[in-house]
Amino acid sequence: MSPQAGRAPRRVALVTGASSGIGADLARVLARHGHDLALVARSRDRLDALADEIANAGRPRPIVLAADLARPDACARLREALAARDAVADILVNNAGFGLVGAAASLDAAEQIEMTDLNMRALTQLTLAFLPDLIAARGRILNVASVAAFLPGPGMAVYYATKAYVVSLSEALSAELMGSSVTVTVLCPGVTSTGFQARAGFDRALLKAMPGMNAMDVAEAGYKGLMAGRRRIVPGLLNKIMVAMLPFVPNAWLLPVVAHLQARRRGP
Ligand SMILES: NC(=O)c1ccc[n+]([C@@H]2O[C@H](COP(=O)([O-])OP(=O)(O)OC[C@H]3O[C@@H](n4cnc5c(N)ncnc54)[C@H](OP(=O)(O)O)[C@@H]3O)[C@@H](O)[C@H]2O)c1
Repeated sequence: MSPQAGRAPRRVALVTGASSGIGADLARVLARHGHDLALVARSRDRLDALADEIANAGRPRPIVLAADLARPDACARLREALAARDAVADILVNNAGFGLVGAAASLDAAEQIEMTDLNMRALTQLTLAFLPDLIAARGRILNVASVAAFLPGPGMAVYYATKAYVVSLSEALSAELMGSSVTVTVLCPGVTSTGFQARAGFDRALLKAMPGMNAMDVAEAGYKGLMAGRRRIVPGLLNKIMVAMLPFVPNAWLLPVVAHLQARRRGP
């Protein structure tokens, strides 16, 4: 008999991309509301620092799982690592993701494929792999997309397309799982002040002047929507207005505007 036989498994909220930005703040909000956590990203040192911060606030120390989710075997390894710690996920937060600014033809092709691996394949793999546990636990899924999901994005074409996929998948799953007591919520932030812009290659001079929402405000809106079982969350009034208006604007008008905006973001 295993030493852990008979003991209830540790129920955790698994948060990907928890080493910085929106994911780190989602982890803080979840911890503050009493959820036990498993934190995933590549940067073990940053995950350890966040786990210490949460433990120092009197919460159980989160499980830290350093993993590169762009690797095809990462999902299976994560499941094994959780099982080895006698933990099961009752909340899955698919937040890890990145963007790249520039014309698709001028950006590195391999890096753009890595983006699709992380933003779409890893999110789908984790969702499908954890669904049986989540159904058994009457759990919840939070997928982080973007307002970029609601329009084509010349100058960040692959990134916008990956986020359209995340919204489509999440909303379809929320309907499929309606009778199962698992809820699926998609969080669609607009510009948020995190490491995202530097990673995407935005012009450094522009970065300082870019207005963005605070990552904690985005995380709190996401948590509230997740726990309410809402299908889609667009945090921030301006983002809400933009997303509501987009269906009425023809793509023939939108495409040059977005292309111009992204060209400015890339800088000289
Ligand atoms: N900031 C915005 O303006 C904005 C707007 C809309 C949507 N979003 C979305 O919000 C989500 C979080 O981004 P953020 O703004 O918080 O950016 P961020 O600060 O750059 O955080 C990205 C997170 O993803 C992790 N990550 C990146 N590559 C990974 C990989 N291969 N394997 C595992 N983890 C990886 C990073 O950790 P490591 O580097 O340690 O692996 C980090 O924890 C993303 O899905 C992004 O598309 C952001």
